[in-house]
Amino acid sequence: MTSEFAVELRDVVKKFVTPEGNELNAVDHVSMQIKNGEFFSMLGSSGCGKTTSLRMIAGFEWPTEGEVYIEGRAMGHTPPFQRKVNTVFQSYALFQHMTVAQNIAFGLEMEGVGEDEIKKRVGRALEMVQLTGMERRRPKQLSGGQQQRVAVARALVKTPSVLLLDEPLGALDLKLRKEMQLELKALQQQLGITFIYVTHDQEEALTMSDRIAVMSKGKVQQLATPVEIYERPSNKFVADFIGESNFLEGTIKSLARDEAVVFVPALNAELRGMPMSSDFVNGEAVAISVRPEKIRIAENNAKGDGLFEAKVLTSVYIGSDTHVYVDMAGIRLKVMEQNRISRLDPSSFYTKDQIITLLFMPENTLVLKKD
Ligand SMILES: Nc1ncnc2c1ncn2[C@@H]1O[C@H](COP(=O)(O)OP(=O)(O)OP(=O)(O)O)[C@@H](O)[C@H]1O
Ligand SMILES: [Mg+2]
Repeated sequence: MTSEFAVELRDVVKKFVTPEGNELNAVDHVSMQIKNGEFFSMLGSSGCGKTTSLRMIAGFEWPTEGEVYIEGRAMGHTPPFQRKVNTVFQSYALFQHMTVAQNIAFGLEMEGVGEDEIKKRVGRALEMVQLTGMERRRPKQLSGGQQQRVAVARALVKTPSVLLLDEPLGALDLKLRKEMQLELKALQQQLGITFIYVTHDQEEALTMSDRIAVMSKGKVQQLATPVEIYERPSNKFVADFIGESNFLEGTIKSLARDEAVVFVPALNAELRGMPMSSDFVNGEAVAISVRPEKIRIAENNAKGDGLFEAKVLTSVYIGSDTHVYVDMAGIRLKVMEQNRISRLDPSSFYTKDQIITLLFMPENTLVLKKD
């Protein structure tokens, strides 16, 4: 292998001129380095530039500025079929009149691969996606998940070193989707091929990926592991987009490397938290983010730092957890408690207007740039 990176985007811009006559940076100075054998996801809401980025890697689009590298080689205007990547599209568009085996073999036939070789490779691809024995069925005679696996086999049969997947599970129902997530992840680990996976489903990205690029409006907001993205979001956008967060507004009162003291006017009090950026300055207006499961409900007579009273607005029992919505000095917060002990006693749950004490621990309290 010539490069440590399977794919690299260096300062890539893709400009489109819309029929309305506006210029749009669908991809706006994006840089990312995707390692060999990595399960890499691009995650973001509709229109953030995921498909456009993927199409530039595949060679269906060319960057307006910047460069795409595959295995260390600048791609320039290299056409798709000369790139060592293959794409599985969202609408997997199998040929309905062909059998499973014919669908998978199609690309190889186009390339003029010999009959014996095709047979061998189709057999291996079917094995990989666990469809051996189904080669004579037509797509209509398969379940949605099985059809999806045929689409993956069709891409794998060409032995790409990078597989590009654009929302490949979008058409499946939730249960099947979750099964296929684990299956695709297992397949990727077994084959050791680099997967670049596009999704707008955060849970899917967190479940499958080694690393995730969180995108918004053509830009990468954060590129990190699932744990880092959830536990240490780099800004307010990411904290809000991934999982749930409560936000408070404050100003920096003092700063140390791993702890900031933030004055929160609404509470007329200080909170201690972890600074998520090294370039905060004293007096800077910041956002404080605390995830619902990381706010503790303390004993009402508890003493110490980070304790604040709140009034219960509603309490929703959802089985595994109870979601408690509270008003803390005019700020609405969501607090989640796991129901670790089985009980039926309603007094163990929270009731409307009850006053409870919340505990904000510094390690759970993130101090973020406002934008
Ligand atoms: N050929 C084109 N001409 C003009 N604008 C385009 C073209 N292709 C995409 N766009 C615009 O570029 C932006 C990014 O589109 P893209 O398809 O990359 O988004 P996406 O992140 O894949 O979204 P989705 O989750 O909806 O698939 C959108 O605003 C879209 O309207
Ligand atoms: Mg798309």
